[in-house]
Amino acid sequence: MTAPTYATTITLRDGRQATVRPLEAGDVDPLTAFFVSLSADTRSRYGPHPFDRPTAESLCASIDNSRIVRFVAVLNDGQPEAEIIGYMILSREIWPGDRERYGDRLREGECACLAPVIADAFQNQGVGTLMGRHVVASAREMGVKQLILMGGVLAFNERAQHFYEKLGFRRVGEFWTHYGEDKLNYDMVLDLE
Ligand SMILES: CC(C)(COP(=O)(O)OP(=O)(O)OC[C@H]1O[C@@H](n2cnc3c(N)ncnc32)[C@H](O)[C@@H]1OP(=O)(O)O)[C@@H](O)C(=O)NCCC(=O)NCCS
Repeated sequence: MTAPTYATTITLRDGRQATVRPLEAGDVDPLTAFFVSLSADTRSRYGPHPFDRPTAESLCASIDNSRIVRFVAVLNDGQPEAEIIGYMILSREIWPGDRERYGDRLREGECACLAPVIADAFQNQGVGTLMGRHVVASAREMGVKQLILMGGVLAFNERAQHFYEKLGFRRVGEFWTHYGEDKLNYDMVLDLE
């Protein structure tokens, strides 16, 4: 039996096709272009790490899919004009804050967390849903039984909550963060069995 590649093809509403697959060592340039393109609004909703070339270089140089799979959606994959339009982190490593909030509800060893972002120009066109479904199916194939959100979702981020609900997540709690100003967040979970 061949090992799964966790790759698929999705079709955008305009008919173009994108490859969804784990990040590879050669993705530094398109990943950098994707990171630096993210708007201030998107960055205010999504911040797992800095969005610059050193980060893209470091992520591409330290790929370990047994711990963290970084899925990318790529237009023109394998060609010089390859363009990353989506990035979703599927991590077996749970952030300490998330671990603390979930406590006993966390399914130790069977849990992973998700952190998705779609390029601004492609948001709200169904790309996240298509890509997210593949990431969830891949997580299931990897033996993940419980998916949580990396750092929750901001209460004002209604589009993201709707997106998560479409994937099957349900809200299980709330908490406040205090970076500069107080913000309400929600924890959401997807059980995969
Ligand atoms: C959240 C995100 C990943 C979703 O991906 P996407 O490609 O934009 O999502 P889709 O187009 O597949 O689906 C969006 C859904 O939200 C709906 N939606 C849009 N704006 C909405 C709003 N203000 N309130 C509720 N639902 C909304 C859309 O109608 C669509 O649902 P439908 O298919 O039932 O009509 C993407 O928007 C993104 O990167 N946002 C910025 C970063 C972010 O918020 N990441 C999550 C951090 S927790």
